[in-house]
Amino acid sequence: MTSRLASSAEHSSVCASINGLDPKRMPEHIAVIMDGNGRWAKARGLPRMMGHRAGVEALKNTLRLCSDLRIGALTAYAFSTENWSRPIDEVNFLMTLFQSVLQKELESLEREQVKIKFLGDLDALPTSLQDLIAEAEQRTVLNGGIHFNVCTNYGGRRELVLAAQRLAELSAKGILDPSHIDEGSFAAELLTAGEADPDLLIRTSGERRISNFLLWQLAYAEIYVTDVLWPDFDAEALKIALVDFQSRCRRFGGLTPISADQLMP
Ligand code: IPE
Ligand code: IPE
Ligand code: MG
Repeated sequence: MTSRLASSAEHSSVCASINGLDPKRMPEHIAVIMDGNGRWAKARGLPRMMGHRAGVEALKNTLRLCSDLRIGALTAYAFSTENWSRPIDEVNFLMTLFQSVLQKELESLEREQVKIKFLGDLDALPTSLQDLIAEAEQRTVLNGGIHFNVCTNYGGRRELVLAAQRLAELSAKGILDPSHIDEGSFAAELLTAGEADPDLLIRTSGERRISNFLLWQLAYAEIYVTDVLWPDFDAEALKIALVDFQSRCRRFGGLTPISADQLMP
């Protein structure tokens, strides 16, 4: 990975080199549903697992590109609460893959100023993976570069239920007046607390659904679906998504285009 701490001149030139991109209108936060690994492998007569391996390379590449483009946060859907229903061999393979990739990449993430966080019900993951995740988060917590959120055993509905539970507990203890619960206090109980909502959601492999991803946070994200299968998602595919994003007119319910940071809190 190249350092994300590029000068603003370097940043402009990265944007300029991506034809037609306006450095002033980049999304602050990109969320991605990395779909199509299995189909990518099948199309090549390979086992599904090879698709997941190739998917890791696409993720590393996307993270590097986003970092170089000074995008503030990349949130990637790696494993959903529903993915446990896959064959046990595939689930085990994915858990082992997460562990080995994180082990291998941790040093470079640390060096490149990436701040990594895993969002989801981590208690259900293998203990060795939980330990490595805790170490990775702790070693990168002070990093000033891109926020890299990896949604692992993540489900949007589960996240909302847990937030409601916590608020109910605080209310029951008399710490919180239920009438004071508002969007801000609710969002503060989510796994993404402190992170701006995604501006752009990318889903690969042509599926037009959000599959229980960031149900609250995607309220006003621009949705971009591409037929490209995740392992084939490269710089060109990201550029096309960003150009498409910059062509959108975001009104947030009003009548004139505004940017997310102009919204009232
Ligand atoms: C996405 O690719 C990766 C995970 C859900 C872990 P898939 O494995 O869903 O690939 P397809 O949809 O079967 O092609
Ligand atoms: C969504 O992909 C979950 C991840 C990318 C981790 P799926 O392949 O599981 O979603 P569905 O089943 O097509 O909705
Ligand atoms: Mg899929």
